[in-house]
Amino acid sequence: KKVELRSEDAEKAGFETFMLKEIHEQPRVIRGLLDRHLDAAGRIELADLPWDREFFRTLDRIMIVACGTAYHAGMYGRLLLENLTGLAVETDLASEFRYRNPKISGDTLVIAVSQSGETADTLASIRMAREIGCPVLSICNVPGSSIVRESDGVLFTDAGLEIGVASTKAYTAQQTAFILLALYAARLRDEVEPERSAELVEALRRIPDAIHYVLERQDAIRAIAEKHHDGASSLYLGRKFNYPTALEGALKNKEISYQHAEGYAAGEMKHGPIALINEYLPVICICTQTRDEVYDKVVSNLKEVEARNGRIIALVTEGDENASRLAEDLIAVPPTLDELSPVINVVALQLLAYYAAQARGTDIDKPRNLAKSVTVE
Ligand code: G6P
Repeated sequence: KKVELRSEDAEKAGFETFMLKEIHEQPRVIRGLLDRHLDAAGRIELADLPWDREFFRTLDRIMIVACGTAYHAGMYGRLLLENLTGLAVETDLASEFRYRNPKISGDTLVIAVSQSGETADTLASIRMAREIGCPVLSICNVPGSSIVRESDGVLFTDAGLEIGVASTKAYTAQQTAFILLALYAARLRDEVEPERSAELVEALRRIPDAIHYVLERQDAIRAIAEKHHDGASSLYLGRKFNYPTALEGALKNKEISYQHAEGYAAGEMKHGPIALINEYLPVICICTQTRDEVYDKVVSNLKEVEARNGRIIALVTEGDENASRLAEDLIAVPPTLDELSPVINVVALQLLAYYAAQARGTDIDKPRNLAKSVTVE
């Protein structure tokens, strides 16, 4: 695969920053991935992978390794793969994994997730895995990169050049790649009913439009960011599929606005972060899951925040009533399947971080102390 450098990738195309431009490119990137891998009958084909049906059927487990934003995509990928394929799936930070003594073998598929394909810890992790004899799949954005060259199979995220240091379009492309991979592996393993697969594919096709909907409401998100930007800290809560979304939202905020932010599994709130809640703390709570038992649990968490006068910013599904009643500010997104909601939700959190950073006057495309690609330990 050749590096396809599109000249428009290196220009801001009328946007004030690369990051904002890349946030707006997400519907197009996801549509491109779907066009490439979904056939007319709605079947996912990952023709470039070097493995056959037998490989996926005899696999014992999957181990996902990555750093930073790519690690959050891996956490989401784990939930999807585990739900759809029936395989045991684990995720680890590459910087931890490489110094562990992981119980992996030739039947463990190791998946490395990396935008750049050059992250030192991720590269070291796949070298270690291959020495043990594990097949390695990388989910990567840069053809010809070190991680791509050292993998047995590659699923390209095809997001185009990402210039903003804080990753946005590469993240939603990694999420999409995991959805495709999970559905594909589940089909080969006969683990997913055709109806369920069709339902997911149909919802998947609607994601680009749903992201458009969020982008069209960026001024409302900006107003919320401007209202809350000057606090010392903020707390992001999410559960199940949206726990990684909470971590990623908090990471975006830290990276570009330099405001301390903590992402937490909503159910863990009472084990510590609840002590932080007072009338000054913005609590960004993801409560879009509707068909899931998780929604009610998150709403109870919100009640606990409200009782302590925390300032709730709720990310909800259009038409939501329960969570909305408790919130000071609301961001509504179009309905989708719970499994796919993180791809849409994270875009709202990217914008929230973006406008907080703008209000705080930081250098958004090149935040202090950060590197786009970390090639040393
Ligand atoms: C750096 C970047 C992050 C990125 C991480 C992993 O910290 O600033 O945006 O998520 O590295 O990078 P990779 O290229 O492996 O996805």
